Amino acid sequence: MSRRLEINEVSPRDGLQMERNFVPTESKIAFINALSACGFARIEVTSYTSPKAIPTLADAEAVMAGIERAAGVKYTALVPNLRGMERAVGGRPDEINLVMSASETHNRANLRMTRAQSLATLQEVIRAAEGAGLPCNVSLSASFGCPFDGEVDANEVISLASSLADSGAAGITVCDTTGMAYPTQVASLCERLQQAVPGLPLTIHLHNTRGMGLANALAAFDTGIERFDGASGGLGGCPYAPGASGNVSTEELVHMFAAMGHDTGVELDSLIAVVHSMSDLVGRPVFSQLAEAGPRLRRFAPPAWLVEKFPQ
Ligand code: COA
Ligand code: ZN
Repeated sequence: MSRRLEINEVSPRDGLQMERNFVPTESKIAFINALSACGFARIEVTSYTSPKAIPTLADAEAVMAGIERAAGVKYTALVPNLRGMERAVGGRPDEINLVMSASETHNRANLRMTRAQSLATLQEVIRAAEGAGLPCNVSLSASFGCPFDGEVDANEVISLASSLADSGAAGITVCDTTGMAYPTQVASLCERLQQAVPGLPLTIHLHNTRGMGLANALAAFDTGIERFDGASGGLGGCPYAPGASGNVSTEELVHMFAAMGHDTGVELDSLIAVVHSMSDLVGRPVFSQLAEAGPRLRRFAPPAWLVEKFPQ
């Protein structure tokens, strides 16, 4: 049976935060405008983090103010604390994506707070955002493993998700920040989360660091997950997680689900055209296997010698 899926494009945030080169503000805006024409459910535009922590996204205000908004697309931004929420309100996002880590050491490295401090901060942000009419999704980084602490206890992920849901979170995203997840683990956590916070929208955010991105997406899909983060061109990674590398690429996610007959809302040819422009955007070669190969039914004219040898 065909299912309607929501694809969230995170390359402008998760991708550009990790790039060595600062992408000029105007180029970021043009990139996001081109993505807006592809049919995403959401685009994560930027992050309102400390410019010292994430210098490549220091132009968050200008980018948010500069983009053209397409009907049907929700524009969101990553926020780590109250200061970030206050900055975000001025940019009129449709929702914000709060962040903390499921692992203690990654939270300390990435956010300079303990998990308890982050949780209290995010609960305060959710309360404050309610006043501003701003829905808050919460992304739980390192939910499937941590590059410092190793295994992350699924019970702790579930307990954080439940606390945040009780505090008014509009959704939870479970993130495999450094590509440590594997399919049976993904299926188990997704099933348990859907039981723990029934009715709360759940998103899965995968990195392809160890080549299991699409397999994990399929495992999540099979348990009923309908929202997927992806980064066009497979960009992405957390600068405060050693070994982090690209997200599962959006074009591969969309292509896989479309081939299986599901409706992602995303127009693949338009997305592939955007991916072809990304090497210029980031100033280094961006290689996407899918963008290179084209969709599975792309057909090539047979070579001249073949036509000559078999004229019929
Ligand atoms: N936006 C802009 N500036 C911020 C800010 C925000 N959301 N939060 C804090 N700051 C500024 C403070 O004003 C202060 O500035 P000053 O040095 O000029 O006085 C400085 O940052 C330090 O503030 P402090 O509250 O002590 O923050 P910190 O140094 O402990 O850092 C975070 C905490 C959360 C702000 C920082 O670690 C961060 O932005 N992390 C995000 C990491 C990230 O995005 N990772 C990838 C995504 S998962
Ligand atoms: Zn990520």
